[in-house]
Amino acid sequence: MQELMVKPTVYRYAAVREFVEDFALGAGDLLITAEYIYKPVFEKLHLGCDVVFQEKYGAGEPSDKMTEAIYRDFPNDYKRIIAVGGGTILDIAKLFALERFVPVEELYDGKIVPRKNKKLVLVPTTCGTGSEMTNIAILALDARGTKKGLAAEGMYADSAVLIPELLESLPFSVFATSSVDALIHAVESSLSPKANATTKLFGYQAIRWILNGYQEILRSDREMAKSLSEQFLLASNYAGIAFGNAGCAAVHALSYPLGAKYHVAHGESNYAVFSGVMRNYVEMKPDGEIAAFQAFLASLLNCTGDEAYENLDRILRQILPHKRLRDYGMTENEITDFANSVLENQQRLLANNYVPFDRERIIKIYRELY
Ligand SMILES: NC(=O)c1ccc[n+]([C@@H]2O[C@H](COP(=O)([O-])OP(=O)(O)OC[C@H]3O[C@@H](n4cnc5c(N)ncnc54)[C@H](O)[C@@H]3O)[C@@H](O)[C@H]2O)c1
Ligand SMILES: [Fe+2]
Repeated sequence: MQELMVKPTVYRYAAVREFVEDFALGAGDLLITAEYIYKPVFEKLHLGCDVVFQEKYGAGEPSDKMTEAIYRDFPNDYKRIIAVGGGTILDIAKLFALERFVPVEELYDGKIVPRKNKKLVLVPTTCGTGSEMTNIAILALDARGTKKGLAAEGMYADSAVLIPELLESLPFSVFATSSVDALIHAVESSLSPKANATTKLFGYQAIRWILNGYQEILRSDREMAKSLSEQFLLASNYAGIAFGNAGCAAVHALSYPLGAKYHVAHGESNYAVFSGVMRNYVEMKPDGEIAAFQAFLASLLNCTGDEAYENLDRILRQILPHKRLRDYGMTENEITDFANSVLENQQRLLANNYVPFDRERIIKIYRELY
């Protein structure tokens, strides 16, 4: 049985200039990024490659239509795709590394085989998705009203590049949603039946860095997040290694209909369902890995096992405000629609649950969080 797969070579640089020189960015490269990242640091380096500003193609998280619109403007055959941005930009770039990916819906339905024919370099500017380490691209399929993940060998990056300097411009709200996403990757993958001693090494270390970092921020102030960029970027990367191997599960599955329908940021929609899923796991199977996780939490938060979840909740609520599902505009009728959508579209994730969920359980969780 496979123990661990880490496909991309990981690089770390103190400054963007070092990365640009080492990778010799230039003709034949397509740089997918955002203008606010490009202008201050890349423009003055006169790269000589084609540059796409993703935000010109629509706001919010990536969709099939957005990706197709970029492709219409940049159909050329590039040698390398370089992506510098948050999960939105990195996930779009994974498709561009493929020989064929349009129409995107056909790729996601398995009608187009995802064959890679370009080099792919991924540089994250948030500390959440760990997408630089995974072969997954998550897109909203506009016509279907949900988000769907596609995992394919051809979508691994060749190089994952960590440059903490790029996170300095992150607003606290994005720091919060993205780091909570990384925390949830680490927790879900460590509780997954596919977890093993090696994936848990990465998962639990990511949890340690993130929760220690949050406690440090709460002891000082939000500016502290900037000086912890490197720690959070590494935590997100480690969580990416952990879930890239052991998978995410019900938290991500239940969050997708909410995120897609009400345009809730990925980390925030995960956070909206996180405590509900965890409570049900504990209710259904209190022994097993979840007991080890609870003891680990207690040691990090300096409390007893019984107080661990309450303390975790208290910390997270100070980093990211918690809302009920109705506060996002969700209606009570949508509880069953969402449950059906999860069962129809998210089996890839539900397969990694700590305990299997049936339709009634999913409805119960949505109801408790409503
Ligand atoms: N492929 C995977 O393995 C994987 C895993 C988790 C999530 N995702 C996907 O990633 C997306 C979310 O990614 P994200 O949380 O990184 O957010 P994001 O890429 O959507 O960015 C959030 C916001 O922050 C801004 N931003 C990003 N970097 C910045 C910086 N350095 N300075 C200032 N502003 C910056 C963006 O412009 C955007 O407005 C979702 O679509 C989610 O489904 C993918
Ligand atoms: Fe995620």
